Amino acid sequence: MRGVFLTLEGLDGSGKSTQAHLLQGFLEGQGLRVRLTREPGGGLPGVRDLLLGTELSPEAEYLLFSADRAEHVRKVVLPALEAGFWVVSDRYLDSSLAYQGYGRGLSLPWLLAVAQEATGGLKPRLTFLLDLPPEEALKRVKDPDRLERLGLPFFQRVREGYLRLAEAEPERFRVLDARKPVAEVQAAIRAALLPLLP
Ligand code: TYD
Repeated sequence: MRGVFLTLEGLDGSGKSTQAHLLQGFLEGQGLRVRLTREPGGGLPGVRDLLLGTELSPEAEYLLFSADRAEHVRKVVLPALEAGFWVVSDRYLDSSLAYQGYGRGLSLPWLLAVAQEATGGLKPRLTFLLDLPPEEALKRVKDPDRLERLGLPFFQRVREGYLRLAEAEPERFRVLDARKPVAEVQAAIRAALLPLLP
C-alpha cells in the first residue's frame, strides 16, 4: 500500500470537516496527492438521506452504515491508497463503534465481526479524535432538531465511547481538544503527521 489512510472522528459539531479541508491543503502543500472523502455516503451516495431521514432500528442502521463502508473501502479508499494517495476520511468505523455501539447499545463483538468483513480489516494509520463535551457539540450544530431528539445522554455515551476506543489504541488515536481555536487544532494534527511525511 503506497498511500496513507487518515480518519477524523468526533461528535457532530466538533469541526471535523473544517479540519479535514485544512489538512487536505496542508498535505497538498507538501506535494502529496490527497483524496478527501467521508462517511456516510462515501460508498453508497443515497444512503445518507436514508440514514438521516428515517427512524431505523439500531441493527438496520448499522448494517446500512456497513454496506456504505464496504463500498467506500472497495471503490474509493483502497484504490486511492494503491495509487499512492493520502486518503483523509471524515468518519469511518470508529463512528459506528461510538454511535451504534456505545450510543445505541449494540454489542461490540457483533459490530467488529461485521466490520471485519465489511472493511477487510482496513484500519487508519492515524485517527484524530476531536473531543468535545456534548453540551458544546449541541450548541454548535446547525440542525439541532435531529440531534436533540437523540438527547444529551446519548451524546455523553458516544463521547465516552470514543474516549475508550482511543484509550484502547493509543498508537492509532490522537485525542485533540476541539474547544481550542481551529488553527491550534490544525497545528496539533500537522505535528502528529510530521513523522509520516516523506
Ligand atoms: P452528517 O450530517 O454527515 O454529520 P457530520 O457532519 O457530523 O459527520 O451525519 C452523520 C451522522 O451519522 C452523525 O450524526 C454520525 C452518524 N454516524 C453513525 O451514527 N454511525 C456511523 O458509522 C457513521 C459513519 C455516522
